[in-house]
Order: sequence, then C-alpha cells, then structure tokens
Amino acid sequence: MSRWIKLASSAQVKAGKVKIFEALGTRIALCNSGGQYFAVQDVCSHDDGPLGEGRLCGQEIECPRHGARFDIRSGAATRMPAVVAIRVFKTKVQDGDVLVELEDEAVKA
Ligand code: FES
Repeated sequence: MSRWIKLASSAQVKAGKVKIFEALGTRIALCNSGGQYFAVQDVCSHDDGPLGEGRLCGQEIECPRHGARFDIRSGAATRMPAVVAIRVFKTKVQDGDVLVELEDEAVKA
C-alpha cells in the first residue's frame, strides 16, 4: 500500500536547488529542476554519503563525498564511483505543496 505525504511547500526549494526533508521517518532529498520536483533517497549508494547536501547538475544530483552522480528521474547511477541506483519517489504538487508517494515498504527502508 502507498500513500501521498506532504513533504514541503513548493516555495521551500528554489529552482536548481536540493533540500532535505523527512517523511514518515524517511530522509528524502527534494530537487527542483527547472520547476519540476523530484524526490530521491538522501543516501548515496556508494558509501552512504548525504546526497541532499550535494548539488544539482541539471537532472543529476552529485554526492558531496566522492562525486558520484545519479539521475534524479530514475535513480540510475550516472558517474563513478557509484554503480548501484538509488531509490526515487513519485511527486506531485497540490495547492502549493509537494507531496511524495511512499510505499509502506519504502517507509521501513
Ligand atoms: S559516498 Fe557518495 S560518492 Fe562516495
């Protein structure tokens, strides 16, 4: 089962920026790429780096620890040293808020 959870106000994350939020105990990096919102796990698959403290490069997020990059749409690793994809979450904007869809399974991860 999944449910939509309010993560942030859309005004909280400016275009080209990423910010960390928490929903149901899951830390999520919310990215604004050209006015579109993408949500990814806040943990790098290489060595648990804090992805949300990294920078957004177009539609990729760069880990601040060793520079791995991930596609924020699919979660795919696009630059070494990471090779394993990260988890992504569906988003939607409703009444000025950004909501993420969390699976019960994801909530426990
Ligand atoms: S922990 Fe992210 S690149 Fe190493």
